[in-house]
Amino acid sequence: MTGADFEFIRKLLKQRSGLMLSAEKQYLVESRLMPVAQRNRIPDLSELTNRLRAGTNEALIAEVVEAMTTNETFFFRDRLPFDHVRNLVLPALMAARERHKRIRIWCAASSTGQEPYSLAMAMKEMAPALNGFRIEILATDLSHEVLAKAEAGIYSQFEVQRGLPIQLLLKYFKQTDDASWQLKDEVRNMVQFRTLNLLENFSSLSRMACSATRWRAWAGTLSGNCRRTIGSWVPRSWRTVTASSRRT
Ligand SMILES: C[S@@+](CC[C@H](N)C(=O)[O-])C[C@H]1O[C@@H](n2cnc3c(N)ncnc32)[C@H](O)[C@@H]1O
Repeated sequence: MTGADFEFIRKLLKQRSGLMLSAEKQYLVESRLMPVAQRNRIPDLSELTNRLRAGTNEALIAEVVEAMTTNETFFFRDRLPFDHVRNLVLPALMAARERHKRIRIWCAASSTGQEPYSLAMAMKEMAPALNGFRIEILATDLSHEVLAKAEAGIYSQFEVQRGLPIQLLLKYFKQTDDASWQLKDEVRNMVQFRTLNLLENFSSLSRMACSATRWRAWAGTLSGNCRRTIGSWVPRSWRTVTASSRRT
């Protein structure tokens, strides 16, 4: 891949997903986009870049953008934001919404679902304290691939060993024939998944009760404009919560 091709892809990614790649990440672009080229029977990355430059193949652009997303996630990641939800955010929301008895949580950039399902399990565990409140969780991501996995709610042994307490595994998952683990419907049904690019208009979601647990850390990879746009929407309480969380 030439320097000019890399620059073009960097700009495209920033524009389409908000991802900011530093100059030394050319190797990453090459390793992630080779499989895209192969799947589309495109001989090399220069030709792939030429087709992207033409700007006529939206499906190919979307595939490239998805291929460059980093989908790392695990159950109860960073722990602290979940403690804050239980101990600070939910009590405050319940007091504010006593009349409606309904709380809606938006998990933005949810990847393969571990984050919204962790929230759902946390909510189930504190059911008595929820005092009849209905909890709805909306999880969104720009990647169709991760959302398909999230909706299935099936995780490998390795994935359930990352962050998930054993008692929650035994309580809320059932083992599948191939030794994977599937979330029970009682948890899966608490979460709805939808495709959403945070750079696009998401005003229809603006009445949601609270936002992503880790938007801030994720926003660290975004361009200044994108960060400001999303950041101005994120409730102040969430900024504090996420600012104090520790990344592992
Ligand atoms: C590192 S994962 C974080 C998953 C989860 N929130 C967590 O912290 O465990 C980042 C996710 O952001 C998604 N993403 C990146 N850019 C996005 C955008 N512009 N709009 C929506 N989702 C985006 C990626 O597809 C990826 O699944």
